Amino acid sequence: MEFKAITDPRARAATACAVIGMHEDGALGPAGQLVDQRIGGAAARLFASKDFAAKLGDTLLLSRTGHEGPARVLLVGLGARKKFDRRQYRKAAQAAAQALLKTGATDAVVYLAVDAGTDLALDAYRRARGIAETFRAQGYRIPDLKTGPKPKPPRLREVRIATGGAGDARHAQRGLDDGVAVADGVAFARDLANLPPNVCTPTHLGVRAQSMRELRGVKVTVLGERQIKALKMGAFLAVAQGSTEPPRLIVCEYRGAPRAQAPLCLVGKGITFDSGGISLKDPPAMDEMKFDMCGAATVLGAFRTAAHLRLPINLVAIVPTCENMPAGNAVKPADVVTTMSGQTVEVLNTDAEGRLILCDALTYSRRFKPAAVIDVATLTGACVIALGNHYSGLMSNDDALAAEIAAAGQRADDRAWHLPIGEEYVDQLKSNFADVANVGGREGGACTAAAYLSKFTTDLKWAHLDIAGTAWLSGAQKGSTGRPVPLLVDFLLERARTK
Ligand code: BES
Ligand code: MN
Ligand code: ZN
Repeated sequence: MEFKAITDPRARAATACAVIGMHEDGALGPAGQLVDQRIGGAAARLFASKDFAAKLGDTLLLSRTGHEGPARVLLVGLGARKKFDRRQYRKAAQAAAQALLKTGATDAVVYLAVDAGTDLALDAYRRARGIAETFRAQGYRIPDLKTGPKPKPPRLREVRIATGGAGDARHAQRGLDDGVAVADGVAFARDLANLPPNVCTPTHLGVRAQSMRELRGVKVTVLGERQIKALKMGAFLAVAQGSTEPPRLIVCEYRGAPRAQAPLCLVGKGITFDSGGISLKDPPAMDEMKFDMCGAATVLGAFRTAAHLRLPINLVAIVPTCENMPAGNAVKPADVVTTMSGQTVEVLNTDAEGRLILCDALTYSRRFKPAAVIDVATLTGACVIALGNHYSGLMSNDDALAAEIAAAGQRADDRAWHLPIGEEYVDQLKSNFADVANVGGREGGACTAAAYLSKFTTDLKWAHLDIAGTAWLSGAQKGSTGRPVPLLVDFLLERARTK
């Protein structure tokens, strides 16, 4: 699916399908009105006859009624004008894409961005980017392993976005290009996370990361068990030791700015399967624990997008990856391990493995003298209970960094909610046998997990995203979402613009 910004002041572009929006009060935007005139006012008539209510996300496909005008018109409901905001705009775009992909149209001209302009505090760049991201996301298909005939690829090849003037079109084209790059990063992450864990192993993640070497300015290093041992990553190795799959430490470096500029570091939890280890999980939904590498997948996806866009920043992605399995030689409750930082940890629960691999990866990040470090992890069930799948949990030892990340999430419609860490939570992690325990009881589980990590990030500007709720959907829509790639890319874009 290719995207182009065009200026089309009279809404006369020839196309297989024109996409126009209508509010619940029956109002079309200026471009929508011009399109409707060319089909004899069919859209307005359908509203008047109550055949189309224009609720948010409603769609109705009209085929050419006269000789003039586009072959099809897709009417999209925008809902109440008063409630219309950037999230509703995205929902309308999503519905439009879903309906459009079911038609036979091979190209479309979308007038949503130009018409919604008067109602939304969104510039041409944002409006166009929203369309590219949502259209691409609707076109995403899980790389499944089903036998039998493959579904046909969507016929829709070219989507043109009508904008205001030529200046708008330039901004919109940039929005479309960025939107496609974000969507590519999202799809990259979703593909990895949707793969079964017998395919998506730590070794596989390493190979996929290595494929990014072809991008300009990118260097990828994949460390094996011997090298991880040499680094003294005792906590990471303790998690890995019960599995026959060898662990990997993946390090991707992107140089888009002078060497002197401190890099941003992204650290992603890469547990390719979390059985819980000796503290074995319950069977129901254990299959979903293949998703426990979504932090890794999204960090790699965001890295790939940043490199693809050639952002003028330096960036490092660090992914500790292994399986968490029970075995005769697996780490067990009460084991004490020594982390790369030198601090000792009492492993009270082997199912709290994410923080064990992350603490060593966070310590490793120090060698890059990063401007900021963000770790991304499907870390706690407690975060799912707290925030559901709407917001990622956000914790930080730096309020300005947290605010910057929360703002990026707002802009990208991939939101995160700032939660507390601090002494109270660190106190819950006291151990009689080691410097720190790896669990702090049920209460405030998302916060104690982050508080544990904070013991390894002193003097770093650090933030943590708990994506246990947002990275994955259960039920009929079961599969990965690619979140928080959009948030991360927006954060990087803004850093590239301002720093
Ligand atoms: N990967 C899980 C977190 C998780 C659990 C995500 C359920 C989504 C749904 C993590 O490794 C884990 O098992 N965390 C434990 C921590 C506990 C033992 C302190 C949890 O949340 O139950
Ligand atoms: Mn676990
Ligand atoms: Zn886990």
